[in-house]
Amino acid sequence: MIPTVSSATSSNSTCATTHAQSLPDERVDDISEGAGDGTQAIMERPALVGTSWVKNIWYFALPSDHVKKGKTVSMQLLGDLILIGRKSDGSVFAMRDICPHQGAPLSFGEFDGKEVACPFHGWKFDSDGVCTDIPALCSDQQVNICKIKTRSYPCREADGNIWLYYGEPRAELPEIPRANGLDGLKYDQTVSRVIVPTHMDYAVVALIDPAHVPYVHKSWWWRNSKALKEKRKHYVPTGTGWTMVKHSPSKGSFIFKLLGDFMETEIAFRLPGCRTEYITLFGRTIVASMTTVTPIDENSCELNHTSYWTITGLKWFLKPIVNAIADEFLGQDLQIAQRQQIGLKFKPKLTMIVKDSGLPGSWYFQGKREWNNATEEGRPFVNPVKEKILRWMT
Ligand code: FES
Ligand SMILES: [Fe+2]
Repeated sequence: MIPTVSSATSSNSTCATTHAQSLPDERVDDISEGAGDGTQAIMERPALVGTSWVKNIWYFALPSDHVKKGKTVSMQLLGDLILIGRKSDGSVFAMRDICPHQGAPLSFGEFDGKEVACPFHGWKFDSDGVCTDIPALCSDQQVNICKIKTRSYPCREADGNIWLYYGEPRAELPEIPRANGLDGLKYDQTVSRVIVPTHMDYAVVALIDPAHVPYVHKSWWWRNSKALKEKRKHYVPTGTGWTMVKHSPSKGSFIFKLLGDFMETEIAFRLPGCRTEYITLFGRTIVASMTTVTPIDENSCELNHTSYWTITGLKWFLKPIVNAIADEFLGQDLQIAQRQQIGLKFKPKLTMIVKDSGLPGSWYFQGKREWNNATEEGRPFVNPVKEKILRWMT
């Protein structure tokens, strides 16, 4: 059974501001409830939550420097076992890491910088996954071996990371989500990764949810006030998601209190599960990040956080600090996801989307549905996000 999401109900009673009423499972339509001030409580189609991934789109796989020339890496991602390699000419490729002969993972075989040989019977495959040699065949035994293939995945590099295309092959593939704010700048980077034991939908919703921050991210150096304050942020539709337009960071954290008057930040989200942020000091980007969610299977996903900084030449010093900060944040998100999983195992009815702080989560589900429909119907994506000021307490 699939967890159900339902809308909060609104009334004049004080109870209505904190309690929401569960709606029956069979309610599958969106409910938008105007509250007179432009805010809404929204229910999403239950069948979409925790059951599918966005198709025909690029997913983050791993940092470029994890795949050296002439080497391959095997990863469980996108419900498949995938071999990612770098040829002698430096180009990357990806194919199903399962031999179409008798199923042995090709990653246990040899890679000569051009072709992969299976460890079981030595069949060879080129970087498109096409069989090029079956050593057991005698010279007069004719077999059309190029008809034998293991699935290949389009594979590209962007901003220091490798991405995989998941979906139907097409002449024109969509754009890879890019880290914002780095154009024309030199930068160093590092990637932190956690494996989260939930369907990617829950990880994406947490990634774009401002309401969990004061409860989950409680490091002493990040937030020094327990008091919740009202935030107002301006959202505009962009690409396959939205941008929270450039603003001064809130002074809730120690770091921003010191320099906040000279800083600005811009946060954006793109499908399939990609949050980007960059911070400028006196108009120049000093740090940027891209956090991505990639499904491993229906019950787990990878969260990869790439941090970029534009003060170069100090990587030996800054990388451990940046990793420690990112690991602490990701560890906090991982811990709450593990705890959430204890409850989700019982397939509860959920009230996932309540008023403004939940609206980005609702946009994600609407965007996911629209992207899948648009790419299947061969028409342009119509961004469901509407320009809006969102308000919440954090
Ligand atoms: S299983 Fe790969 S060659 Fe036989
Ligand atoms: Fe978080």
